[in-house]
Amino acid sequence: MKIFCVTLFFCFSQSYGWDYKKKLFPSDFRFGVSTSAYQIEGAWDEDGKGESIWDRYVHTHPEVIADGWNGDNATDSYHLYKRDVEMLRELGVDHYRFSISWPRVLPNGHINTINEKGLQYYDNLLDELIKYNIAAMVTMYHFDLPQRLQDLGGWTNPEIIQWFEDYARVLFDRYGHKVKYWITINQPDVCFDAYGGNKMAPAVDLKGTGDYVCVKNMMLAHARAYRLFEKEYKSRSEVNAKLGLSVSINWFDAPDYSTSENEELELYRAFSFGLYLHPIWSESGDFPPSVKKAVAKNSKAEGLSKSRLPELTAEEIKMLKKSADFIGMNHYTTFFVNKTESGVRSGLPYSFPDIEVHVSQSDKWLPSKSAWLKGVPYGLYKSLLYLNRVYNRPPIFITEHGWSTDPGLHDTSRINMMREYSRGLLFSLEDGTDLLGLTVWSLMDNIEWTAGTSERFGLYEVDFDSPEKTRIPRVSAHYYKHMIHSRIVDEDWKLKNLDMSISNRRQKILANKKTEL
Ligand SMILES: *[C@@H]1O[C@H](CO)[C@@H](O)[C@H](O)[C@H]1NC(C)=O
Ligand SMILES: *[C@@H]1O[C@H](CO)[C@@H](O)[C@H](O)[C@H]1NC(C)=O
Repeated sequence: MKIFCVTLFFCFSQSYGWDYKKKLFPSDFRFGVSTSAYQIEGAWDEDGKGESIWDRYVHTHPEVIADGWNGDNATDSYHLYKRDVEMLRELGVDHYRFSISWPRVLPNGHINTINEKGLQYYDNLLDELIKYNIAAMVTMYHFDLPQRLQDLGGWTNPEIIQWFEDYARVLFDRYGHKVKYWITINQPDVCFDAYGGNKMAPAVDLKGTGDYVCVKNMMLAHARAYRLFEKEYKSRSEVNAKLGLSVSINWFDAPDYSTSENEELELYRAFSFGLYLHPIWSESGDFPPSVKKAVAKNSKAEGLSKSRLPELTAEEIKMLKKSADFIGMNHYTTFFVNKTESGVRSGLPYSFPDIEVHVSQSDKWLPSKSAWLKGVPYGLYKSLLYLNRVYNRPPIFITEHGWSTDPGLHDTSRINMMREYSRGLLFSLEDGTDLLGLTVWSLMDNIEWTAGTSERFGLYEVDFDSPEKTRIPRVSAHYYKHMIHSRIVDEDWKLKNLDMSISNRRQKILANKKTEL
């Protein structure tokens, strides 16, 4: 029975007393795992690859990396992609989300120099996936801009809209028949870190201006790629793909968990994800009116002639509207947002310009290895309810969701969180949410940007010290495999003879450099 929930209470009362063993994920619900190029490939200057903004940033500022490990070698997936696909087969996933490194295929960012060896690498990976019937979900841009384009202003130069479209055409031409889901851009909110501080490359501090210009250009680049795909590729007989944008959609609540509407909360949600969803999924299109108003007001008070948030033309608004087949949702955690005395702007997780609120997390929530990431399973469920209400039940694919720990194979906290959050997905499916699938971040430990290897997100542990970057399944890999296979959220699952099994396997793995689950 599909019922659209009006209130949270109604939903939970509907679901109360569920026997989880009887609640199946529908047969067309897709399970997968996710990675990104810089975080796993390594081979940063091999076979003609160009320099990316991350290569430049970590080489010129090694001090920003928590533990000295960077993407130069990462997990060496440039050479070990066959082992990666073997792990996907062990897990039994339906799809694998990975990203293409723009400078690996176009070393200077432009289409006048194509690196055939780089293109061949992704052909090899895609062919390996096809061989084992694993659908490819390919992100075209996941933070690693060619440095050459950054030298021209990067995402603050409007020419990038054309550069991105050119790049997209190269990818559609070459891989169009091998890809099931395209993600144009991962998390455009990276603009606030990349051009508004020092957390993400290129770490240019243009807070309050560069960040907004970046957002506008990224959104338009996305829309141009969608329109190109729609016009020239989608109807081809060999092409069978959907295209979306991945947006960071965490949950934001009032400190008393109240669901009542309040202006700061709504404004923070609008700054946090409405900025990217409203132009595509709302009836009216354009950036959210509340954000436009807030930035315009501050800009005027500062004596500027125009808002620091650049306007979209009528034509651009039209191009952006409905420019996606699904919402790519990256969800990790929840924050409390409340009013603050003026002057103090937001704290965690991002300090957005133009909004004065206090952002915090409860000390009752389960901590992970990452300061910003607390286990709050109800938040995923509530954000899905919210998206249904505000955007009229859009198709949603969870393109990232995960948990960080210390090194070690016994990742009980990851299993508990996977179980609890997945229950929320079952609730949401019961509500009638158009939920296409779950993509767990991440297949294996990798380079967590400036956190290096100090925050482990992998279902597989990676031994970064070993020349082979040995990958070993954590207990959570076994749990996810069980979930995919059984299609239930199992309360009682235990790995049989857990300790024995893991240590035996570890010996075997270390001896053979690989394993089967
Ligand atoms: C990457 O691997 C090379 C060759 O094994 C090694 O010399 C270098 O130190 C490694 N760099 C990092 C950052 O791990
Ligand atoms: C907002 O929340 C913080 C911490 O959660 C608290 O210290 C502060 O008093 C709250 N402010 C208001 C106005 O409720």
